[in-house]
Amino acid sequence: MRLLVLICLLFGVLGSLETKNKLVECEVCREVFREAQKWALDPNIWEYPIDIAVEICKKFEGYTIPVCLGAIKENVLIVTGSIARHYLDPEWACSMLEFCDSPKYVKENFTEWQDNILQSKPSAPAPTPSGQGTYKFGHISDLHIDIYYQEGTNNNCGLPVCCRSWNGPGNSGYWGDLQCDLPVRTLEVTLDQMSQIDLDFLIVTGDIPAHDVWNQSLSYNLNYQQVVADLFEKYFPTTPIYYMFGNHGPFPVNNLDPRNSSVFIDPFTQIWSNWLDAQAIETLKSTWTYSMVHPGTNLKMVAINTQACNNDNFFLLENATDPMGQIQWLAKELAAAEQSGQVVYLFSHIPIESGDCLDDWAAHVNALVDRYSNTIAGQFYGHTHKDQWSITRGVKSLTPLSVQWAAPSVTTYQGMNPSFRVYEADTVTKLVTDIHQYRLNLTAANENPSVTPTFELAYSFLDYYGLPDLQPQTLLDFANTWMANETRSLQYLDAYYGVPGAQTSCDQNCRLVLVCDRIWGTNALQSICTGTPEYGLINGLYIALFGPWVYKQ
Ligand SMILES: *[C@@H]1O[C@H](CO)[C@@H](O)[C@H](O)[C@H]1NC(C)=O
Ligand SMILES: *[C@@H]1O[C@H](CO)[C@@H](O)[C@H](O)[C@H]1NC(C)=O
Ligand SMILES: *[C@@H]1O[C@H](CO)[C@@H](O)[C@H](O)[C@H]1NC(C)=O
Ligand SMILES: *[C@@H]1O[C@H](CO)[C@@H](O)[C@H](O)[C@H]1NC(C)=O
Ligand SMILES: *[C@@H]1O[C@H](CO)[C@@H](O)[C@H](O)[C@H]1NC(C)=O
Ligand SMILES: *[C@@H]1O[C@H](CO)[C@@H](O)[C@H](O)[C@H]1NC(C)=O
Repeated sequence: MRLLVLICLLFGVLGSLETKNKLVECEVCREVFREAQKWALDPNIWEYPIDIAVEICKKFEGYTIPVCLGAIKENVLIVTGSIARHYLDPEWACSMLEFCDSPKYVKENFTEWQDNILQSKPSAPAPTPSGQGTYKFGHISDLHIDIYYQEGTNNNCGLPVCCRSWNGPGNSGYWGDLQCDLPVRTLEVTLDQMSQIDLDFLIVTGDIPAHDVWNQSLSYNLNYQQVVADLFEKYFPTTPIYYMFGNHGPFPVNNLDPRNSSVFIDPFTQIWSNWLDAQAIETLKSTWTYSMVHPGTNLKMVAINTQACNNDNFFLLENATDPMGQIQWLAKELAAAEQSGQVVYLFSHIPIESGDCLDDWAAHVNALVDRYSNTIAGQFYGHTHKDQWSITRGVKSLTPLSVQWAAPSVTTYQGMNPSFRVYEADTVTKLVTDIHQYRLNLTAANENPSVTPTFELAYSFLDYYGLPDLQPQTLLDFANTWMANETRSLQYLDAYYGVPGAQTSCDQNCRLVLVCDRIWGTNALQSICTGTPEYGLINGLYIALFGPWVYKQ
């Protein structure tokens, strides 16, 4: 009521003011928005809408209720709070409505930023493998262990995660179930067998907790980090591990608040402190990122954090402009590496090309990878649970420059055989020269619960696809042949799903998407390639809510 009166007052008073007194206008406007924002930030006003949502939720059948309720409870106030802080911010709103002259808000001129970044790109030719020997390193992603997993339970309970004692009896196997998250013992088998390979280091691209996202807490999620940190300690006591958490790290799932992330980051850095130096801990706290030089080499491991682009991180609705200053940090980090002749491995959870990564952020990283393509020798991601790769290309030249490798998941969720991979890389240039993909046949494993199962080499990349090397140009040319060769697209899909024969045909439309997703390095570019809109109407509106990058001056 008070709000309505104020709004009437604003437009009534301001409309009839003969002498335009900017200062008065500005102050009245801000008062209105202060009240409106205070109103919208009051949790009590959301009680009734939440009740309605809960009622709608209850109309769903059976098991979806707790999931639905959990999701509402965890997310509503984050969404409404972030939107209120963005759109009802008195300073911002009254500046946009031109009632106030200051502060000014300036949209980022991306073209200008990008031109500026790219203009200093050296014209040296792209590095190629030296042929002077290789080393190996491991990569696992999306572990999603379930500490409550139990064999002999129901795997189809109607919840996102089943196979727990309270889901009733069923057929879930001793080593895991394709419908559920991973028993801890199967992760132990994975790490044990990886540890028998001579690996210089491990890249771990995040997502450890189970998918029971409706029934988690901060301490529950942190406990998962601890469980896995302890296992790394056990199986890799002396191997450097470069780890970055994913969207399932913080609580609630996907949500990490740039204004207030220490509740998660501080304990996180404590749990992983064995593998982080003092500076890494510092930058994790200030930007959610870190870099560390791999001991005895010129290889710099640069971890960026895609919680800054995750379009389900509702906190970003308040301000999606370079969250935590990561893009600025990355630009400096890459420039410094180039300066000192280091080679960079860039890694994170969500691939830059993923539709889950906001366009603006992805475009900035894309440009930086172009600029520093002679310094970045590899990009490593996870998140989709699938075995996939996409090529980053020159912004203007369109030359293929770098490959975003996404490792398939360790978790079986959903329908995946547990996987880990080993890269072989050139000793001098650090370029990836081959990939050895290992998988566990879960069906076979569960037939013999008492026998520790073995991960088998599913394929080696060069041999499997009949390629001479893994240079971006080779992969681009290869992907382009799929349009005229269904067999090759199906071969890719076998690897992608981790189950040979999972898909038995891929027509022209299917192949177009498959090829476009390989040969372009951002979701926006892929959409242009396929000729389909990037988002539907609802999704488009939702994405628009994040707004363009805006700087306050
Ligand atoms: C952005 O910067 C470019 C290059 O400096 C300039 O040509 C262009 O007009 C600018 N765009 C806007 C919207 O200001
Ligand atoms: C939530 O998890 C607890 C154990 O942490 C369990 O006892 C409870 O049944 C779970 N609730 C649901 C709805 O799954
Ligand atoms: C920061 O997060 C903690 C834990 O979620 C919460 O208790 C606290 O109110 C938050 N602070 C701000 C300023 O949002
Ligand atoms: C996995 O094991 C099952 C059962 O032993 C077998 O039928 C199947 O062919 C195996 N799959 C692969 C890809 O080896
Ligand atoms: C399609 O690719 C497969 C696998 O590389 C190859 O054996 C076959 O000859 C190709 N077919 C055509 C028509 O090029
Ligand atoms: C959003 O955050 C960025 C980075 O912290 C900051 O520079 C910018 O001014 C903020 N935008 C607004 C509208 O406050």
